[in-house]
Amino acid sequence: MAKPQIEIDYKNVTSAVIGAKDGITPRQLKSLEKKIKPLISKINKQRKAGETPFRDLPYNKRISMRVNTLVKTLRKECDYLVVLGIGGSALGNITLDTALRPFLPNPKDKQSKRPQLFVLDNVDPDQFGSFLDYIQPKRKLKRTVFNVISKSGRTSETAAQFMIIREMLIDALGKAGYQKQVVATTDAKAGTLRTIADSDKLQTLEVPDGVGGRFSILSAVGLFSAAMCGINISQLLTGARDMDARVKTTRFLENPAAINAAINYHYYTHGKPISVMMPYSYALKDMADWYRQLWAESLGKKLDLDKREAWIGPTPVKALGTTDQHSQVQLYREGPNDKLFTFLQVNNFARPLKIGPAPDCAPELGFLAGKKMSTLFNNEKKATEYALLESKRPNLTVIFDKVNAYTVGQFIYLYEVTTSLAGALFNINPYDQPAVELGKEATFALMGKEGYEDFAQEIQSKTEIDEDFIV
Ligand code: PA5
Repeated sequence: MAKPQIEIDYKNVTSAVIGAKDGITPRQLKSLEKKIKPLISKINKQRKAGETPFRDLPYNKRISMRVNTLVKTLRKECDYLVVLGIGGSALGNITLDTALRPFLPNPKDKQSKRPQLFVLDNVDPDQFGSFLDYIQPKRKLKRTVFNVISKSGRTSETAAQFMIIREMLIDALGKAGYQKQVVATTDAKAGTLRTIADSDKLQTLEVPDGVGGRFSILSAVGLFSAAMCGINISQLLTGARDMDARVKTTRFLENPAAINAAINYHYYTHGKPISVMMPYSYALKDMADWYRQLWAESLGKKLDLDKREAWIGPTPVKALGTTDQHSQVQLYREGPNDKLFTFLQVNNFARPLKIGPAPDCAPELGFLAGKKMSTLFNNEKKATEYALLESKRPNLTVIFDKVNAYTVGQFIYLYEVTTSLAGALFNINPYDQPAVELGKEATFALMGKEGYEDFAQEIQSKTEIDEDFIV
C-alpha cells in the first residue's frame, strides 16, 4: 500500500472562494506558474552544481551510519540527553522531539521515557542554574550525554554553556568521564569547537560543509538526538526523499513546494506580509517554531541578488490551534487583513479518545458526550477556517494523514525547498544570515574579546542609558 503523502489544500486562497480582492485569480495563478517554472529549474541546477548540499542530506548514508554507531554505544547508559546549541543548532532537535515522542513518558512503556531530552538554547543563568542543580548529582551525570552543537564553534551562548558543563564534568568525573559523556557536533575541519574536540579527544559528529544551521535538521545535528531518543531516523529520511521526488518537478501544479512558495510570494506582494502557521496538533507545535526561523533568517534580507537594497521578508508568526483561537483569532478576523494563514491538520491521531458522558445537571453538554476528542479538535480547525473565510482571510492547509517520522520527514523537506523557491522568487540569497552575524560580533566586543576594543566603545556609546528618557 502506498505510504500517505503530505498534501496541501489551497482552495481557500482562490478568488473563487474568497473573492477577487483577496483571492488568487486563475490568471494570477498562471502568471505565478510562468514566473516560478524557470526558478524550479534554477534551484535544481544549483543542487546539481553542489551549491545546496542540504538537498542531498536524505541520501547520505554515511551520516546515518555514524549516528547509529554512536547511538548504539551511548544509548544503553543514557537517561538524560542534553543538547547545548542555539538557532539552527537547537530548533530541529526540539521539533523532532515534540513531533515524534509522546507528550509525557508512558510509565507502562520503558522505551518511551528514555532518555529524557533537554535542549538548552539560551544563556539565562537562572534557567541554566536550575538545570545544573537538577543534573549535578554524580549518579545522574554518569548517565547523561551532552551533545554540544555549533557549526561555527564561535557562538557565545553555546561556548559559555559548554565551558560550564566541561568544567563540571571534569571536576565530577575526571577527564575520561568528561570525554565519555560529551559528543561535539561541528565542522569537520575548522572552528573553535573542532579545535576543542580534537584537543580534548571528544567523540564527534559533523555539520556537513555548506549546510547552514537552519537547513541542518536532517544532518547529524538533528539526527543524533532524534536517534538517541528512539525516533526512526530512517523513516524520517525516507519521507524527505519521497518529498524530494515531488518538489523537483517543473510541473507547477504537481509540485507542492512550488505552489506553496508561489502563494506565499503572491500574498507578500499583495499586501499580506505576515505568514501565520497554525498547527492543530501539539506534536507539530514546534514545527511552527522551526519554520519561523527557516522563513525569517532565509527570507529577511536587505540586499537582493543584484546587490540592490530590497529590505524584503515575510514575517512568520506561530500560533497553536485551538489554544490561540482564544487568544489571536479576534485579531486574525477583525484586525488588518495582512496575513496568510497556514494550518497544519492531522487526519488520524494515534489516540482519538472518547469524551465522557455529560453530567445530569448539564444536559447542554450532551452534544459532546461520546464523541471523539480528535473529532472535536479537527472540527475546531474547520470552524476557524470557516471563520477566517467569512472575514475574507486567505488560508491553506497542510494535511498530515498521521504524524510519524515518515510524514515529518516529508514536511521538513517540503518547507526547506519551499524556502529555496521563495528566496528565488524574492531574488535574494536564502542561505546566508549577515544580520545575525553582527549581533554575534557585538557580543564578542561587549564581552571583551581581544581585537574588538574600538567596536566595544562604539556600541557602548550608542547604547548608553540617558537618564532623560528613563521614567
Ligand atoms: O541558521 C543559522 O545559521 C543560525 O541560526 C545558527 O544555527 C545559529 O546562529 C548557531 O550557530 P552555530 O551552529 O554556528 O553555533
